[in-house]
Amino acid sequence: MKILVTGGLGYIGSHVSVLLLEKGYEVIIVDNLDNSSISVLEGIKKITNLSPVFEKLDIRDYNQIELFLSKHNDLSGVIHFAAHKSVSESVENPLKYYDNNVLGFINLYNLIKERKIPLIFSSSATVYGNADSVPIKEDAPIKEAFSPYGKTKQICEEIIRDTTKSNLSTKSVVLRYFNPVGAHPSGLIGELPNGKPQNLIPFITQTLIGKINKLMVFGNDYPTEDGTCIRDYIDVMDLAEAHIKSLEFILEPKNDKNFEVINIGTGKGHSVFQIIKIFEKVTKKKLKYKVTGRRKGDVPVSYADCSKAKEILGWTSKLSIEESIASSWNWENNN
Ligand code: NAD
Ligand code: WQD
Repeated sequence: MKILVTGGLGYIGSHVSVLLLEKGYEVIIVDNLDNSSISVLEGIKKITNLSPVFEKLDIRDYNQIELFLSKHNDLSGVIHFAAHKSVSESVENPLKYYDNNVLGFINLYNLIKERKIPLIFSSSATVYGNADSVPIKEDAPIKEAFSPYGKTKQICEEIIRDTTKSNLSTKSVVLRYFNPVGAHPSGLIGELPNGKPQNLIPFITQTLIGKINKLMVFGNDYPTEDGTCIRDYIDVMDLAEAHIKSLEFILEPKNDKNFEVINIGTGKGHSVFQIIKIFEKVTKKKLKYKVTGRRKGDVPVSYADCSKAKEILGWTSKLSIEESIASSWNWENNN
């Protein structure tokens, strides 16, 4: 079966492409290389000994995408990763985010919907905003997102929900990832942050390796045991597996559900201080850090209720946070 992976040279898309190839799917990647490098394709080839089709293409270019889909008129599914993902950049330049993440998606969605190709959409726990309680279930109220980035995910989810209602023959699964971390065990692909990282894990690995002087811990006065924020860190290899399960679910003719929203996390929370301690244990290095003020928009505690993923997809996370941190460190050293 032929699967189109948009943004397939990015962090999550590259790991999913590897697993798809290993499972025997034919993989077609489009990416405009806005936040990735062509060298990732070499990494995918080295790991799998297989060559996915790759085309440098911008999903905002309707005519090019249409032409591309006419060449590949036998697609069984689309996994859509292509989007911008920086929360802070989206606050500085909201239009850039609405343009790429919403307009780009509508372009693609119009074309794949016409062709009735099932869709897996990358959403985010950010859609929950500051949830009333944890663990967060899929039916938790969607609060106002803290950033234009988060709003683009909420809008795209609504677009898919409404479209699916109006056209029962298009199937979609929306996956709400919690905090993706880790890298492929080979150390050949991983997260490649553009410029200074904003996320905790790449910030720590770059500090430990000496690229950055010290980590700023954003607040130790939260209502948590050690005062730092708690997140649900999900390994990218487990996340990739969740996409395969979602694909199997969506391609199963007996399954008559046209639209599902599913949390993908571990169901466990770790504080920033706990993460630092695990890093120090795994790497046997001391991390330089300083506690500073809270970062605007951070919620104190976020972790997933993953029972729906287990029930519907038969998926649960397998890798421990220690394993994720070890693979992130391996990737930083190889990179
Ligand atoms: P990433 O930036 O590493 O990958 C996205 C890829 O899409 C990049 O290779 C980029 O070049 C490409 N791209 C962007 N705009 C494009 C366009 N218009 N046309 C073609 N290609 C384009 O990001 P990621 O971490 O792999 O995230 C993948 C998806 O998952 C995104 O939709 C993101 O919003 C979502 N997500 C990510 C996280 C996270 O923390 N990494 C969490 C929740 C959801
Ligand atoms: C984790 C914890 C910080 C950096 C973001 C997006 C979310 C999703 C995943 C895409 C928080 C603390 C961080 C640092 C720190 N992405 N921290 N010092 O904010 O939970 O989620 O990535 O959809 O939308 O918002 O992840 O890794 O930035 O932060 O103390 O230098 O680490 O305060 O508690 P976050 P993160």
